[in-house]
Formats: sequence, C-alpha cells, structure tokens
Amino acid sequence: MSPSDQPPVFPDGFLWGAATAAHQIEGSPLADGAGPSIWTRFAHTPGMTLHGDHGDIACDHYRLWKEDVALMRELGLKAYRFSVSWSRVLPEGKGRVNQAGLDFYSRLADELLANDIEPLLTLYHWDLPAALDDRGGWLNPDIANWFADYGRVLYRALDGRVKKWVTLNEPWVITDGGYLHGALAPGHRSKYETPIATHNLMRAHGAAVLAYREEGKHEIGLVVNIEPKYAATDSAEDKAAVDRAHAYMNGQYLDPALLGTYPDELKEIFGDAWPEWPAEDYALIRQPLDFIGINYYTRSVTEASNTYPLGASAVRQPLGTYTETGWEVFPQGLTDLLLWARDRYGNIPTYITENGAAFFDPPVAEGGRIRDPLRIDYLQKHLTAVHDAIEAGCDIRGYMVWSLLDNLEWSLGYSKRFGIVHVNYATQLRTPKDSARYYSNIIATHGRSLADPLPG
Ligand code: BGC
Repeated sequence: MSPSDQPPVFPDGFLWGAATAAHQIEGSPLADGAGPSIWTRFAHTPGMTLHGDHGDIACDHYRLWKEDVALMRELGLKAYRFSVSWSRVLPEGKGRVNQAGLDFYSRLADELLANDIEPLLTLYHWDLPAALDDRGGWLNPDIANWFADYGRVLYRALDGRVKKWVTLNEPWVITDGGYLHGALAPGHRSKYETPIATHNLMRAHGAAVLAYREEGKHEIGLVVNIEPKYAATDSAEDKAAVDRAHAYMNGQYLDPALLGTYPDELKEIFGDAWPEWPAEDYALIRQPLDFIGINYYTRSVTEASNTYPLGASAVRQPLGTYTETGWEVFPQGLTDLLLWARDRYGNIPTYITENGAAFFDPPVAEGGRIRDPLRIDYLQKHLTAVHDAIEAGCDIRGYMVWSLLDNLEWSLGYSKRFGIVHVNYATQLRTPKDSARYYSNIIATHGRSLADPLPG
C-alpha cells in the first residue's frame, strides 16, 4: 500500500510486459540459413561458460514461439520486449539478407499483435555476427554503418507493426564484460580496446537512430543498465571511488547519448587509453530519443581499492539480502536512480526494460505449482519503487520483468533462473511460477493488487 493506504495508481496506458533476448531463449542458432554469432563461437570455446553451456537449444523458442506467445496472452502481458539475432537476418552481418530469418521475426510480431501484445524490439542484445567480429567487431569504426544498415532492413520490414525500437541493450556490459574483463563474448581483456568499443557502440547507436528517422515513423530509444553507487564510508578516497564508479557505469553511455559528452572521470580511469574523439562524432551520437529504457537489478556500495582500472570495488553488506547472482536486493536504489536520471537528463519518457531476480526455485510440485516467494517479494518491492518514482513526477511508461522464461544466463549457463515461468530444459515444458500468477494479477488490476498476497 502507498502511504495514504490507497491502492497504487499507475498511469493510463502503462505497459506491463516481460523481456527476453534472442540468444538466451531461441536456440537453433544456425537454422534456416542463419550465420553464427560471437556467442555461438564463445560458448563453444572450451572453458568460456559454466559447464560448457551454450545456446544451441536454450528454450527452443525458435520452434515454440507460437506457444510462447499463447503463454504471454494467458498471463495477460500487454507488451513483450525481445531482441533480434543480427546474424539470422544478415548471416555475414552485412549485405545479403536471409529472408527466412527476417520472416521469423515478422511472424512473431504478427502473432504478438494478434494477441494484443505490443512488441518492443531490441536490435542488439550482445550477439554480434561472428563474420563482423572477424573484421574487428566493435573495434572497427565501420560498424556504425553496418549497424545502421542492419537497422534499416528491420525498420523497412517491421516498422508500423513494431512501434517501439531499441538500438542497444546495455552497452556498459558489452564493453566491461566483452572488452575489459573478458567474461563475455568476444572475451577480450584490454584497457586500450574498451574505450574504442564504447565509442563505436555509441556511434552505431547514433547512426541507427538517424537511419530510423529516415525509414521509421514511431519511437526509438536506448537501453542502459544503471546502478546507484553509495560510498562505503565518508572518506574522501571512497567518495572519489564512488564518483568514478558512477561515471563509469551510469554516465558513460547516457551522457554522450543525451548530453553529447563523456564524463571527465573516464579520462582519469582509462588514462592514456582514453582517446580524444572528433567533435563530429558527438553530433552523431547525440540524437533526440523518444524514450530511454532502464534495466535495474541492484545497487553497489563502493570503496576505494586497487582494482584495475577503476580503483573502486563493491563491498558486500553484512545485513543485505542477496540473490543467486550475488546481487543485493535494494529497491530504494531504483527510485533513487530514476530521480537521478530525471534530474540529470530531463524527464524523458522512460521504460523499466528489465528488472527481476534469480533465486533458487524448488522443483515443480504436484499440481504443477512452483512457489517462489522471494521473487514475488522482489517484484512487489521494485514495482513499489517504480510507483514511488511516478508519484515523484518521473515519466515512467512501462515495466518489463526479466525474464518471461528461465533462460541461458550467458557465461553462467543455465545455472541461474530469472524466469517468472519455469522451463524444464529436458522437456521444454513451461510452468508459470507463483510469481507469474502474482504478476498476472497485477496486470489484471493495473497495479492495484501490488500489495496483495497471492491467493492460496
Ligand atoms: C541483461 C540480460 C541478463 C540479465 C541478468 C541484463 O544485464 O540484459 O541479458 O540475463 O541482466 O543478468
């Protein structure tokens, strides 16, 4: 309940949805003429993912998409955020279009619309065509044009049926995981490459938005994951560490996209590895956006340390509650950062494009029930945090739970279950967890049942 003891009120038209990403659910990565992506390659390189897990089958959504849309309909979802696998549509990343790949997404969009579910399409959720990685991937400046051309193929085929487009999902993870620490594809570890990948991602984002303005008539935005940073102590060192961590994660992508600059701290962090960029690049990067998408999972309490290259690291909270991925449950952080984004960038229409948690789920009980009270608690608290931000005047237009289905958690393989729907990977049986029933009630009551415990 809100402080006034009245049920929460969400704005009219607030979009209640769920999110997934191509590589994490589709499987069949090479079917019907698709080319390999860096994730197909990375996961098949020994030692790169937990237990060698890969996306060859995943949730078999490439074949079960129709049933999955029926499931979304059953849950009452109003919106579904998914991503397109670039190398299904352009097997070499550029040039030749693979019609069969394009048709898959076209059928998916039709089916969603036939079920009154609004599609939100992300162009890039980390699965770069391997053929483009062979040409330098995000380190090659030509990628801005490759990405815009790929965008054009999809805008021409789907704009109108898809009215909400996202260029990139979480550029910070792409560079920090893929180019600095190597835990994610393409698995590089280079302080010198990372700023180049960052800058080319942002140029690609700008070029794809520009192309959309020529080809499309609806809305396009950028999705970032941001995380509030709090200092572990009042010491000047810890405060400076927080400023660095905050600029690195929260300002590195939103600042250039919305303000046309990078935070100064990046020069401090990367030193001689941070180049001077040409002025015209900033003009390309800073395109008016129709919305931003924010993915929120946790906060971090930060202290100064000798961690390369940030000089800051997160401190575990002795009294904190942590999810299976080791992330503290901290709903207040979501309100805090929505207010921060509004104050820094203006009250841009905002979607929470991902929020959710991996917890240990018990096996499916008799009668097909899966009790996941911790996930319900997480959703309840975070939706309340979103509502608090709305009450404070933030223009929040929708919320997408991560994730619709248990799925492939990148290098952590199938070990972490984020779904509100359980997936039995041996049989591909989908079983809605209690959290799915809880979320379904929330959607049906437009948020009024947020504080109600699940019946039964
Ligand atoms: C990503 C998802 C991922 C989730 C949980 C986000 O960073 O966009 O692909 O599964 O977090 O780690």
